[in-house]
Amino acid sequence: MFVIRPARPDDEPFLWDMAWEATAVDPGMRALGREAAFAIPHVRRYLDGWGRPGDGAVVAAAGDGRRLGAAWYRLLPAEDPGWGFVAPDVPELSIGVAADARGGGVGGALLDAALALAREQGFRAVSLSVDRRNPARRLYERKGFRDAGVSDPTDGSVTMTALL
Ligand SMILES: CC(C)(COP(=O)(O)OP(=O)(O)OC[C@H]1O[C@@H](n2cnc3c(N)ncnc32)[C@H](O)[C@@H]1OP(=O)(O)O)[C@@H](O)C(=O)NCCC(=O)NCCS
Repeated sequence: MFVIRPARPDDEPFLWDMAWEATAVDPGMRALGREAAFAIPHVRRYLDGWGRPGDGAVVAAAGDGRRLGAAWYRLLPAEDPGWGFVAPDVPELSIGVAADARGGGVGGALLDAALALAREQGFRAVSLSVDRRNPARRLYERKGFRDAGVSDPTDGSVTMTALL
């Protein structure tokens, strides 16, 4: 059993933990290691200075309060776009679930809650970038994400958007 709740300021270290879960999917990043990977501005920027206007996050917690996963989104500028950039007013979503909590519906519930929060905040869409081979693509499709049509078919990753 788990609950999904809005993130609190004291959740930020956990968001970084989950960012590492998502980043380490890439073998190159995994080989680099957490500290070196997060020293790269393009990796760090999804959480750096967390709490900017437009930032939104939700956390999944077990009955005993243990955090299981998180999903968050943030706006990134056109002049320094994220990997899943589609427009300056469309935030990019990141998600990670602790390895021992995967496959039990936590990720799906986090996506539902993050999309609901983004809708409440007045966003028209949310985007993300995912490795074409990542099974998470199926989950994103089930939750309404579609190929945004901006990725080259030869790219290893595809940018997807969910309209809210
Ligand atoms: C992707 C992820 C957030 C999904 O959370 P979850 O709690 O496992 O998801 P749910 O149980 O709600 O849904 C199951 C779906 O998640 C995906 N999934 C399950 N285990 C997974 C795993 N180990 N790695 C990646 N995706 C997984 C699959 O799409 C699965 O659907 P399927 O059964 O149709 O294949 C989670 O598995 C994770 O953190 N994976 C590693 C990090 C990552 O890939 N982040 C996304 C980067 S874009």
